[in-house]
Amino acid sequence: MKKLLALALAALMLFALAACGEKTPVLTMATNAEFPPYEYYEGDKVVGIDAEVAALIAEKLGMELEIVDVAFDSIIPGVQAGKYDMGMAGMTVTEDRLTKVSFSSSYATGVQSVIVKEGGAVKSLDDISGKKIGVQTSTTGDIYASDEFGEDAVVKYDNGAVAVQSLILGKVDCVIIDNEPAKSYVAVNEGLEILDTEYAVEDYAICFSKENTELKDKVDAALKELIADGSVQKVVDKYINAD
Ligand code: ARG
Repeated sequence: MKKLLALALAALMLFALAACGEKTPVLTMATNAEFPPYEYYEGDKVVGIDAEVAALIAEKLGMELEIVDVAFDSIIPGVQAGKYDMGMAGMTVTEDRLTKVSFSSSYATGVQSVIVKEGGAVKSLDDISGKKIGVQTSTTGDIYASDEFGEDAVVKYDNGAVAVQSLILGKVDCVIIDNEPAKSYVAVNEGLEILDTEYAVEDYAICFSKENTELKDKVDAALKELIADGSVQKVVDKYINAD
């Protein structure tokens, strides 16, 4: 009887050991958590649409999501180098980025918007020429503004929040940034408004190293399921009030 008990105990211990050793695979997602409502901090936790959709994807794949917050222009190089498994940051699919990374299917649409000071010098798109434009470095807002109005007109900031602070201080005359972050910034800062114009419409997607087609396909399949069953929409509705 004692022998049997000892044997059972040994088996149990072995089992427990095996369970400990069996690690859940980690899915690292690089983002730039200065982009509400897609990614931002709540305390010391990164929350937002991208964070929650990525968590649902990881759950579907039996992986553990790890979010890494880096500068926006470090995401693609880091993904290319294999430092992160994927990049998810309200990132627009562009021709140029497609030469560097591959993208999942699109899970959201973004619109480039122009934030101005109420009663300020910029009242419509026609007024922007000759003015100073604030952007977040390397975003599509930066790329469009630099192309259209020239590098000299564009002031590049680390993130949208800092660009908006500069607008408030009068260092720039407008800020070109995606519509949902624009709404978030305007909501928490007095005296700002968004021009009634859609500057450019874009698709957001998750980026991967071109070599890692296996992960891309897995994530893409999970994402498609989450879009089809309404889970993505549920997350979007939680963060964006339809009005
Ligand atoms: N959609 C724009 C782009 O791809 C801005 C994205 C900025 N995202 C961020 N998490 N800061 O360039």
